[in-house]
Amino acid sequence: MPCSMRIDVLTLFPEVFEPFFEASIVGRAVRSGLVSIRCVNFRDFAHDKHRSVDDRPFGGGPGMVLMCGPVFDALESVEAKCDGTPLRILLTPQGERLTQATVGDLARRPWLVVLCGHYEGFDERIRLGIGAREISIGDYVLSGGEPAAMALIDAVVRLVPGALGDEGSAADDSFAAGMLEYPQYTRPREFRGMSVPDVLLSGDHDRIAAWRREEAMKRTLERRPDLRRGGGSKGPAEPA
Ligand code: ADE
Repeated sequence: MPCSMRIDVLTLFPEVFEPFFEASIVGRAVRSGLVSIRCVNFRDFAHDKHRSVDDRPFGGGPGMVLMCGPVFDALESVEAKCDGTPLRILLTPQGERLTQATVGDLARRPWLVVLCGHYEGFDERIRLGIGAREISIGDYVLSGGEPAAMALIDAVVRLVPGALGDEGSAADDSFAAGMLEYPQYTRPREFRGMSVPDVLLSGDHDRIAAWRREEAMKRTLERRPDLRRGGGSKGPAEPA
C-alpha cells in the first residue's frame, strides 16, 4: 500500500514514542505502510561536547529554555532528506486549541513535522523563525510536548483513509458532526441490573439510527451545548 502520510517527530525523548508507534491503530497504520513515522533527537544536533540543548533564560528566572541551534539544525536536517514542504507544528500551551476540525485538516496533509518542547519552552526566535502552526492540546501545562504529540498523532492517523478497519467508524466519532457520540452497548444484554435499550435489539435500522441521533443530540445539549452553538473550538462553555 502506498504511504499516504509522513510524520517526523522532533523531541528530546524519542524512546517514549517507541511503544506508542507500535500499538493499536497507529501501530497498524505504520505496519501496513499507510503512515511512516520517524523520531529525531534534538540532542543529536547539539553544538558542544556536553550535547547541550538548553540554557538558562536571559533576564533570569526559573528553568531552562531550548536553544535555537539544535532545534533549527534538527528541523533542517529532517526536511533536507525529503522533497516537498511539510506542515511544521509546534506543540505549546500557547497555541490554538486542537479540535476535531483541525485534526481533519492535518490528516489531509502528506507530511507533518511535529516539534516537542521541554523545560520552560522554546527560545522565542524558534517560534518566530520557523513559521509553524502552534497547537495546544488543552489549557493545562505538560512537562513536555511528547504526550501532546501522541494525542495529536493518534487523532490524525485514525482519520487517514484505511487506518480504521471500518471506514464508517470515524464518521460516528464524537465531534465529527459537531456532536458527541451516542451511547454504545455490547454483550451481555443484562449487566448488574442494567439492560441494553430494546431499540438496539430490534433489528430495525431506521429506528436504531433515529434513536442514536436523538441520544447524541441529548448528550451534546446536556454536556457540551457550546458545540451546537458552533463554539466547539473554544472548549466547554463558561458557566453563566
Ligand atoms: N506542552 C506543554 N503543555 C502543552 C499543551 N497543553 N499542549 C501542547 N503542548 C504542550
